[in-house]
Amino acid sequence: MNVLLLGSGGREHALAWKLARSPGLTRLYAAPGNPGIAGHATLVRVDPADHAAVIAFARGHDIGLVVIGPEAPLVDGLADSLRAAGVPVFGPDKAAARLEGSKGFTKDLCARAGIPTAGYLRVRSRAEADAALAATFALPVVLKADGLAAGKGVTIAYSPAEAADALDALFDGPGFEATGEAVIEEFLDGEEASLFVLTDGTAIMPFGSAQDHKRVGEGDIGPNTGGMGAYSPARVLTPDLEARAIAEIVEPTLAAMREAGTPFSGVLYAGLMLTATGPKLIEYNARFGDPEAQVILPRFDGDLLPVMLATAEGRLGELAPARFVPDTALTIVVAAHGYPAAPRTGGRIDGIRDAEATGALVFQAGTRRDGQTLVASGGRVLAVTALAPSVAGAQAAANHAVDAIALPGGFHRRDIGWREVARERAGG
Ligand code: AMP
Ligand code: GLY
Repeated sequence: MNVLLLGSGGREHALAWKLARSPGLTRLYAAPGNPGIAGHATLVRVDPADHAAVIAFARGHDIGLVVIGPEAPLVDGLADSLRAAGVPVFGPDKAAARLEGSKGFTKDLCARAGIPTAGYLRVRSRAEADAALAATFALPVVLKADGLAAGKGVTIAYSPAEAADALDALFDGPGFEATGEAVIEEFLDGEEASLFVLTDGTAIMPFGSAQDHKRVGEGDIGPNTGGMGAYSPARVLTPDLEARAIAEIVEPTLAAMREAGTPFSGVLYAGLMLTATGPKLIEYNARFGDPEAQVILPRFDGDLLPVMLATAEGRLGELAPARFVPDTALTIVVAAHGYPAAPRTGGRIDGIRDAEATGALVFQAGTRRDGQTLVASGGRVLAVTALAPSVAGAQAAANHAVDAIALPGGFHRRDIGWREVARERAGG
């Protein structure tokens, strides 16, 4: 079967790497892809925003499955267009992608279905936000743009002045423009974990857990990023807590989506806060995480293509549960100097082969070829993944592999997985 993969980041490199190992794959195409993805796929120019062009490409190249990596084409309804044209697609329709595309939509769904999540109010103007803050919310308080904001839409405000500044930025920002709304939320206390499930709308296949490191600096300080590293599994999400999250959060969500006539098909990524009273939903994403895919997929001990196809075709319930190797996978993002505010691109990347020679996997995120030279073209440049029986071992192996990489002006965190390493040392 021929497959078309859409996207150009480290997540898509991990997807391409895994799909390329599938015995059922004939040809993998990627648009736009990147130089790392080019090692597994033929790169083609097809604009995901041009639905007719994607359909024409799929028909012209006998594509049996389109895999949509990032959220923007999902929220834009590309999956709807492909399904309407009879092309199987991994990824939810526009109406179902609102679980990621509109925080207010998801909060209302949680409220109706009794799903544990932070208390909230949807607001449509600065005046409404000020009134809600004064009347209802204690500090700290969480302020969110309603729509997609590329990881920049959330502020945790610890003082009224911080809240006012965040609201100024918010009612001026891209996430607000998208839907004209914001959400004010109660602050949840606890440790975060991400749970992934594949679903065809009805059947659920748990697909691993991970913990991301969103802050740019070691010790979790500095501004939020798209993610500076991650590890899987997230052992804080014990089998018991995972079962609760599926029963109390994921299943009622999928049931509500079915009842609304907009079933969710694809991968549902639940960002959870593990609070003293149990798991609560922070947010949903309608696609794999980046860099979470770079630790989930290397642990997946199975053939990805038939699983994705069964998801797309509503046959997921026929398959056996996904199996994962017991090792911990840990990935370290190598970022360009200045990320996340103003990354300095163009730096020359060396040492990928040497890093791979240590046994690590090097996924490319923001790279491009400049003649024979590979150079940084984005904020997050590479994700370097290592596996080991212990978290400390995976951290050491990933750090060792990253040391082989040379990117002038690049930086990375050496403490990915620190919470779990500390627990391991404490014998917990
Ligand atoms: P989101 O973009 O919704 O994933 O939010 C980004 C980050 O903000 C999350 O990963 C959490 O660390 C934090 N966050 C979001 N909502 C809350 C909340 N209600 N309470 C505490 N932290 C939150
Ligand atoms: N790493 C967070 C995300 O993919 O949304």
